[in-house]
Amino acid sequence: MKLRFATHNKGKFMEAKAILEPIGITLEQYDKGYPEIQSTSLEDVATYAADFLKDKIESPFFLEDAGLFIDALKGFPGVYSAYVFASIGCEGILKLLEDCTERGAHFESVIAYIENEDVKIFKGRCKGKIAMEKRGNKGFGFDPIFIPNGSNKTFGEMEPEEKNVYSHRGKSIRKLAEYIVNGLA
Ligand code: IMP
Repeated sequence: MKLRFATHNKGKFMEAKAILEPIGITLEQYDKGYPEIQSTSLEDVATYAADFLKDKIESPFFLEDAGLFIDALKGFPGVYSAYVFASIGCEGILKLLEDCTERGAHFESVIAYIENEDVKIFKGRCKGKIAMEKRGNKGFGFDPIFIPNGSNKTFGEMEPEEKNVYSHRGKSIRKLAEYIVNGLA
């Protein structure tokens, strides 16, 4: 089966591929943009984008919206993660948390999967903490400053396969795979 993933992000694509290809799903990157509405919900952003792309990409395809939610910052940057990463980056987040001992945070991933006009949503969440300094140069985005529960490494120190064991995206993609293979939502 061939499945399209609408994303600019090569890192996200490699993570999805590491889960889907071994189970016989050939993943193709659809590297075109779509509008991201302003909303406090990742699910709203993903659903709007799915509607926009429905008649522009051959189905089945999916897209994913994700964000980093930091406890001490009351969930910031959350849905604004892309803008915050592009503006202040990992260094800016470390600066905001300077002298802060409460380092809890989580990532969330929301997948919108489109098959014959129908949109299905799959979610994943990964709890962890913000590191004291950047570590590792693998992955993308906030990977070098996020340590998932159950590991001492940051995502930036992990290959995609290891990151997938813990990550928000690993969880949402495995739910998508389960649905495609067994029809279970
Ligand atoms: P997007 O809108 O889903 O592309 O993600 C928003 C931002 O969140 C991205 O620009 C990344 O900086 C960050 N982000 C999302 N997922 C991850 C991840 O798995 N690791 C690190 N950063 C991520």
